Amino acid sequence: MGRDGTSDVHGRAGGAPSGVLDDAPTGAPSETVARTRSTDPEDRSVVSGALPEGEAEIELRDVSKLFKSRYRETLALTDINLGIRKQEFVTLVGQSGCGKTTMLRILAGLIKPTTGEVRIKEQPLWHGNTRDDAALRQLGLVFQDAHLFPWYSVEDNISLPLALRKVDKKERRRRAHELGELVGLTGFERALPRELSGGMRQRVAIARALSYDPEILLMDEPFGALDAMTRDKMNMELQRIAQATQATVVLVTHSIAEAVFLADRVVLLSARPGRIRSITEIPADHPRELEVTAQPGFQDRVIDLRHQLTEDEERLARHGGVSE
Ligand SMILES: Nc1ncnc2c1ncn2[C@@H]1O[C@H](COP(=O)(O)OP(=O)(O)OP(=O)(O)O)[C@@H](O)[C@H]1O
Ligand SMILES: [Mg+2]
Repeated sequence: MGRDGTSDVHGRAGGAPSGVLDDAPTGAPSETVARTRSTDPEDRSVVSGALPEGEAEIELRDVSKLFKSRYRETLALTDINLGIRKQEFVTLVGQSGCGKTTMLRILAGLIKPTTGEVRIKEQPLWHGNTRDDAALRQLGLVFQDAHLFPWYSVEDNISLPLALRKVDKKERRRRAHELGELVGLTGFERALPRELSGGMRQRVAIARALSYDPEILLMDEPFGALDAMTRDKMNMELQRIAQATQATVVLVTHSIAEAVFLADRVVLLSARPGRIRSITEIPADHPRELEVTAQPGFQDRVIDLRHQLTEDEERLARHGGVSE
């Protein structure tokens, strides 16, 4: 976790330890937020998060998603271009209903985009209506609710994906034990989900997602139901796990502070239909200590992103909450 026990915030402020958002050295022009966005609140121009050819591990190219039912059509996402590098940590934020889950489900191959393309390691995820399941094997998914099987032990829940892949029992046990250790559940292997706290259940869900060594971890508000302290702890754990497994992570959250704390880049979606409104780089090394959240460089970014969200809300209210 990188906690050294003796570290104190004041002692580090003078130096330049890693994990610090040490913006604006004296005299230098402030480059606190390396972002791409317009300052006009009425401007709905789209920001492209496309990366140069060959740099992205996961890519969305000109993606849009239109949901059609008998009664209504909802354009959930449009003009989405985003490349995510290997081992990058990207967080997705935006108002409720702006298309975050839809984007994650598209990345996970659970739904097909209406237009555009998803590429994983330069391979298209869809060939017509057929999904490339080999590409999907590199993905691990964690949702807001842990979705554990109540009658299975921690160990069996963690190793369920391996059982489905016909891995033998001894190997499943070994892997479940190893992962239990990684997420801090040693000693609870035989416990049932009801005997665990919410944070522990979420850790089982993360361990389960890691059981088959996914290179890409997709997480939809995984800590949304947890109290603030447990959430902080889980954020530290997640950084450690992401580093230990060298996973690329895309995480959806409603918490701007969490998004900034965890991310290499924060992608903010505008409301209805979801478009990329801004991409904010967070140039501090991982793992970051919680003290980083008290620093001006960190807080500036949080305030700036909150401001963008408020502008978006106001814009939506001016347009009567009606999508364009
Ligand atoms: N299966 C579906 N069928 C029809 N409409 C859908 C479907 N899934 C999502 N939508 C619509 O798409 C839009 C985006 O939904 P989505 O769940 O992606 O939002 P979100 O950003 O994850 O919101 P929240 O923060 O509340 O979880 C919403 O208007 C929603 O009603
Ligand atoms: Mg959602």
